[in-house]
Parts: sequence; C-alpha cells; structure tokens
Amino acid sequence: MNKIYICGNKKLDGAVDVQGSKNAALPIIAASLLNHQECVLTNCPDLKDVKAALEIIDRLGGKTAYQEHTAIIKAENIHRSDISDDLMASMRSSVLFLGPIISRTKKAVISYPGGCSIGLRPIDLHLKAFKQLGVLVEETGGHIYCSTEKIKSGKVNLIFPSVGATENIMMLAAVSNAEVIIANAAREPEILDLQNFLNKMGAKISGAGSETIRIIGVEKLNKVQYNIMADRIFAATVFCAAAACGGDVVVKGVVPEQLELMLSMLSGAGAEVTSGKDFVRIKCDKRISGLGKVMTSPYPGFPTDAQAIFMSSLLCAEGTTVFVENIFESRYKHVPELIKMGADIIVDGRLAVVSGCNFIQGAPVEAMDLRGGAALVVAGLSAIGDTVVTGLNHIDRGYEKIEDTFAHLGATIKRLE
Ligand code: EPZ
Repeated sequence: MNKIYICGNKKLDGAVDVQGSKNAALPIIAASLLNHQECVLTNCPDLKDVKAALEIIDRLGGKTAYQEHTAIIKAENIHRSDISDDLMASMRSSVLFLGPIISRTKKAVISYPGGCSIGLRPIDLHLKAFKQLGVLVEETGGHIYCSTEKIKSGKVNLIFPSVGATENIMMLAAVSNAEVIIANAAREPEILDLQNFLNKMGAKISGAGSETIRIIGVEKLNKVQYNIMADRIFAATVFCAAAACGGDVVVKGVVPEQLELMLSMLSGAGAEVTSGKDFVRIKCDKRISGLGKVMTSPYPGFPTDAQAIFMSSLLCAEGTTVFVENIFESRYKHVPELIKMGADIIVDGRLAVVSGCNFIQGAPVEAMDLRGGAALVVAGLSAIGDTVVTGLNHIDRGYEKIEDTFAHLGATIKRLE
C-alpha cells in the first residue's frame, strides 16, 4: 500500500502551475458522448477519475486515448447503453453519463453511483427532472432503468442548485428537439465550462453561471478541440498550505475571480494576497488568525470542497473558527485524523469548532475521502515532525501527484511504495 511521508514545519516557496479542473473535465468527458465526431480535450488532468470516465466511454463502444494532459474521444459507434456496477461504484460522477447515454441511445441502465463517503449523495433531483422531461425511470434491484421516445420541452425547478443535476439536464437536452429551462440551477464555474464546451460543439445553451439556464436542443454536434478550465480547489489547496506553513507561493494559470471569496478570507486571516490576470500570490510570514465562522454553500458561496483544507490551515491560528458544513451531511471524516496530530476540534453534527493550538505534531493518519485526504497533507506540511498519510487512492482521484506539487515548493515530502 503506498503512502506519503512528510517531514513538516517548513516554509513553502516558489511557483506551481494549476492543474486542469477535475470537476469540469468529468462532465465534459461525459458530454463528448453526445458528439459523433472527434473531441480533443486539452489541459485534461491526469487523474484516476478521468481515466475511469474514459473507460466508461470505451465500454460503451467509443474510442478514447489519453496522453500529455490531452484526451481524444471518438464516440461515433456507441452500441451499449449500460454502465457496469464496478465503474459506477468507482466514482460519483459516473451518474453524469446518464443524460448523454439516454440522449444518444434513448435508454440507459446504471446502478447507483459511488464516490466519497461524505454523505448519502442521492440522485433524486436528477431522476425527477428526467421524468419531467419525458424519460421513463424505473428503479429496481439496485439498478435504474431509463428509456424515452423523445425529450419533452419544459421548465425544471430544482429544489436545490445541484451541480450534477444541472449538468445532467444540460446534457440530456443539448441534442434534442426540446427547449428546456433550468430554474435554480447551480452556478459553479464548472457549469459555465460545460456550457462553453457544448456550445463550441454547436449546442445552443445560455445562462450558465446564473440561476437560470436555457437549452435549445440541436440536431447534431461538430468536431471540437477544447481547453478545460483551471482547478480552483487545487489552487485553494496550495493557498491553504502556504497559510498553514508560512512562505511565499504563486499559483499560475488560475482565474482569480473564481477564487475571490476564499482569497478574501485568507487575506482577512492575515495572509498577504496579490493577484494578476492569471496568477495568485500568497505570502504568509506570521501566524494567521481564526476566521470566526465559515459556512459552506453553493457557488458563489464558500465551496464545500475547500472546507477540509481551510480547516487544516487554521489548526494553529490565533483564535477559533466555527465551520458549518451545509452541503454534505458527513464531511468531517478528516477531523479524527487531525486530532491525532494534536488539533483541538469539536464536531457536533454539521458544526466543527476549531480552536487554534500553538503547534501540531506529525502522526500516521489515513485519508477517508478526497478533500479530507488533501487536508491531512496540508496539516502534515505544517506539523512538527514526521507524518505518514495512507489512503492515497482517495487523494489520487483529484490531485495529480500531490507530493510533487509540494516538493516543488520546498517541502520534504515523498511517496513511499
Ligand atoms: C459536485 O458533486 C462535485 N463533484 C463535488 O466535488 C462538490 O462537492 C459538489 O458538486 C458541490 O459543489 C463533481 O463535480 C464531480 P451536488 P455533486 O449534486 O454534483 C444533494 C470533490 O471533492 N443532492 O451539488 O454530487 C447532495 O446529497 C467533489 O471534488 C440531492 O439531495 O453535488 C448534496 O448534499 C465532492 N439529490 C448536495 O445536494 C440529488 O439528486 C450537493 O450535491 C443531487 C444532490
């Protein structure tokens, strides 16, 4: 079982390039299924979940290749409409193939998606919307059977701005004879990236980034080359490490506007934040202060994916931070591991109260999910002594060789086989 060894308590210094966004790449790979012609995706991150998404397309009858952060997808001959249970269980975003498969083959059979153990993660909003738009859905024996003659026009009012449901509805309607409106749509930047990708192929979608998205179905799509957006949570992970360890780091290739709230919070905690057109610099040469209250909410609120890494950056802050995790019901699995390092954290349901310590100590810790695992790395970088992080299969789903990123910034960190 491989693991990451860290000798902590070293300042970070230097510049790194941001990786392509996992949460933009996965829906975009699913959407490429809608196109009978070739899709070339550049800045596509080299991640386990990306490889799993490409594997799903191969098993459906498509042909994919991946090299040097470029994915080539040819979905001309799709002759299956089911996704195997093992691939569905391998990641949550396997559910994003439901819309494209139905659009392409007029039917689909999937089991329930897997993913991080951060909550139940039902897909009821996806299925409710699909039923409203003319898809027959039957859930039996742990599988979901979908079929349709044709997609119906209509207005879907989401009771919660679900990222995945928004993306699935966009992909279901993009190639159809229907006109669909999504009200209370998710506004994450990854939704806009999906709209841009679909429209570059010839789709007619507008409103992504706002709470109302309009899809006017088209007959077919054209060959495309598309550059995937930067990963804002990867960037936030590096910023949080710099705030935790001290130092002077630059992350290049980011869109500062997408990071505005997180950067203002780090600045409010005492970090020195400067940014240009496509980079952000974080300097931190003193102990940061607690943030008072941090509440996760849909974009443009504080992202749930940044909750764990922000928590790790505040373990030795001057003062207290109260986290309220409003999106997922069990996203504090990193807390017991941080307590092993000497952190002072009390969890009660969706609340986690972090009281700043003078220092934390390295310890053997285990990642239980993707972002919680990244938080353990951030904590290990700032801890006094040695930390060994196991459960790297979770971390590798979302970070390309996380140890290389921080070694490049001067940390003593390596992966042990
Ligand atoms: C996406 O997950 C991201 N994953 C998540 O990132 C991210 O945390 C989440 O959006 C919120 O921003 C990808 O994009 C691949 P949701 P998704 O549907 O689409 C409930 C990471 O670490 N809900 O907005 O699954 C759900 O249970 C991952 O990169 C329903 O109740 O998120 C949750 O409580 C983790 N019914 C809330 O909504 C549904 O049908 C948000 O879910 C769908 C969702």
